[in-house]
Amino acid sequence: MAFDTRTLLRKPMADPIRMQKSLQKFGIPRPIRDTIVVGTKSVLAPGEETRRKAHAATAAVPKSVPMDVLKRDGAAILAGEHLPQAVPAALALQEFFGTLEQAGRVKKPDGHYKSDFLVRLAGNEEVLALAPVRDFVLSDELLGMASRYFDQVPVLSGVWFWWSPVNKSKAESQLYHYDGEDKSQLKIILNVVDVDENTGPFSFLSAPASEAVAATRRHSARLDDDLVNAAVGAEAVSRLIGPAGTVGAVDTSRCLHYGSRGNSRQRLILMLQFTRFLAPKASLPSWDLEAADLASEGLDDIRKMVLNLS
Ligand SMILES: [Fe+2]
Repeated sequence: MAFDTRTLLRKPMADPIRMQKSLQKFGIPRPIRDTIVVGTKSVLAPGEETRRKAHAATAAVPKSVPMDVLKRDGAAILAGEHLPQAVPAALALQEFFGTLEQAGRVKKPDGHYKSDFLVRLAGNEEVLALAPVRDFVLSDELLGMASRYFDQVPVLSGVWFWWSPVNKSKAESQLYHYDGEDKSQLKIILNVVDVDENTGPFSFLSAPASEAVAATRRHSARLDDDLVNAAVGAEAVSRLIGPAGTVGAVDTSRCLHYGSRGNSRQRLILMLQFTRFLAPKASLPSWDLEAADLASEGLDDIRKMVLNLS
């Protein structure tokens, strides 16, 4: 049997984040590092991007946002009637939060190096093992949206359950910034509790407004509110406010954003990250189907590609 070079992509030596760090040590500039990583992925998985592009046309056409609007703005608050899985997923996660509290797992991190305004309580297989969460994450609506947004079937790089405790800080990701895994990515954010102005809502600008603020997308940059407001006006910001089950789709590589700011009430969200297979700074996920309770599911081609199964 021929050796499958794709398996090498799961080894540390070909992991994009490790590769980036190693290349950085040699002083190789970022655009060249990205080219090397993308080239390595392409060589080890020949034809994979072409296959994913071909399958995108077969993905469901989403109804909760017009695709031309999502592609233009890079962000949208989704129409809930087309995502019936959202409220059950939020309710399941509320219950799960209670379980985590009882288990003593709802606490701020000990180390100073980690932010204490946004705490990852659980993620990936542990949350996918909750059936209503799995139904939401792998819904035709979201997978169709992600596939058509990139014009190729992406990978689900991560699923995270975030807790934002009451806080008064304004630092790091509480300031406007871009995420840097690729030139484009899609985050899906589900409000697990009711979110209002006092709950540190996920806040974002559209892609065109973001471009008007900052032509360069250096993801490490943190932008001051005054600078943003002077460029596009304070009314340009959208907030993911709404009852539990409200869902937003935001390309956090194209849209300036922040969250967990000024919480006088704690916030819980579920966040999904979809990235292109060839994303230069995203690891390829290796989902444990047993742990996610997906082993007995009949997964179609799109779901297999999203979960990065060959
Ligand atoms: Fe971010």
